[in-house]
Amino acid sequence: MRIAVFAGDGIGPEVTEQAVRVLDALEIAGLELIEGDVGGAAYRKHGHPLPPVTLDIARSVDAILFGAVGDFTLDHLERALRPEQAVLGLRKELGLFANLRPATVFKGLEDLSTLRPEVSGKIDLLIVRELNGDVYFGEKGTRTLADGQRQGWDMMSYAEDEVRRIAHVGFKAAQGRSGKLCSVDKANVLETSQLWRDVVIAVSKDYPDVELTHMYVDNAAMQLVKNPGAFDVIVTGNLFGDILSDQASMCVGSIGLLASASLADGTLGLYEPIHGSAPDIAGKGIANPMATILSAAMLLRHSFGLEAQAARIEAAVAAALADGVKGGDLGGSAGTKEIGDAVLARL
Ligand code: NAD
Ligand code: IPM
Ligand code: MN
Repeated sequence: MRIAVFAGDGIGPEVTEQAVRVLDALEIAGLELIEGDVGGAAYRKHGHPLPPVTLDIARSVDAILFGAVGDFTLDHLERALRPEQAVLGLRKELGLFANLRPATVFKGLEDLSTLRPEVSGKIDLLIVRELNGDVYFGEKGTRTLADGQRQGWDMMSYAEDEVRRIAHVGFKAAQGRSGKLCSVDKANVLETSQLWRDVVIAVSKDYPDVELTHMYVDNAAMQLVKNPGAFDVIVTGNLFGDILSDQASMCVGSIGLLASASLADGTLGLYEPIHGSAPDIAGKGIANPMATILSAAMLLRHSFGLEAQAARIEAAVAAALADGVKGGDLGGSAGTKEIGDAVLARL
């Protein structure tokens, strides 16, 4: 069980350190951690956000624990060298096309949400986000128009097989939950979305036990705040999934709480909090490490089938929250290490 630990930039190393403490504390026999550089940190050291040495490590392990990348002092670099290319590159190079972003309210902790407790208390949903296609990976550029002004452009596209494979992930996830799948698109405007919808409907014939609905993304953003409890599994494209998952995190309580798994066809998985490098609080020791700790739990569950250990971590996080251990993101004052200590104490 070889795990690469790519901590990255900003709060990435701070939150990852706490997740590694939790993994260490479980004393799982045969678990080996291998560190590697990604993002702005890797650019400064190796001249590239995803250097070959890191990619080699990624290809040699069974799972990756990822912190966050992003460093605004490097935003002037050409796009291929920007820190974010590390996570985008890993997703693409390793074929990690299925991004699972669960958003569930912790029992008894409805009031962490900025929504009313009777609304937030019903949240138990899973966003299945396609991660290898869409406008993220299409051709893009800046061109000069006839009148001399510059125009930025990004090509949005989905091929049938890209939609088909993520649709299967969505339907299977729904089968394992309450049997409801909502496909989110913008088929009223976008050709990419019309094809997405057509393919999802075709795939649904294989899953007569799953109730499929469709929703436009603007409505989905609204419903997520109005009645998030109505959602079970949401399957959507790369861009819409990115946006809706940040929104779902606030419905639960904070972006510092949401974990994710990015899975390929094989067994390899990359696990990361859905948040970024949070430059506004980096280096202050106040970031909430819970999303990363919960990502480590997802890692143990999905990559190694260690359900009991995963559940132990999740219970420890929930217990810490229930005891009032909250970071600044949740209106509390606990620091990063203090939160790590609290979770460890409850393991
Ligand atoms: P962000 O998620 O980094 O931060 C958004 C807000 O949430 C900030 O106010 C931040 O302080 C807060 N926040 C985030 N995580 C927190 C935590 N664990 N505890 C407490 N507060 C937390 O998003 P952003 O500011 O839009 O982006 C910052 C950088 O991160 C950018 O360079 C962006 O590209 C990058 N980014 C990377 C990833 C990734 O590595 N997967 C994800 C998102 C953003
Ligand atoms: C995320 C992030 C990334 C994304 C960025 C950093 C490329 O926002 O993982 O949610 O847009 O996918
Ligand atoms: Mn995002």
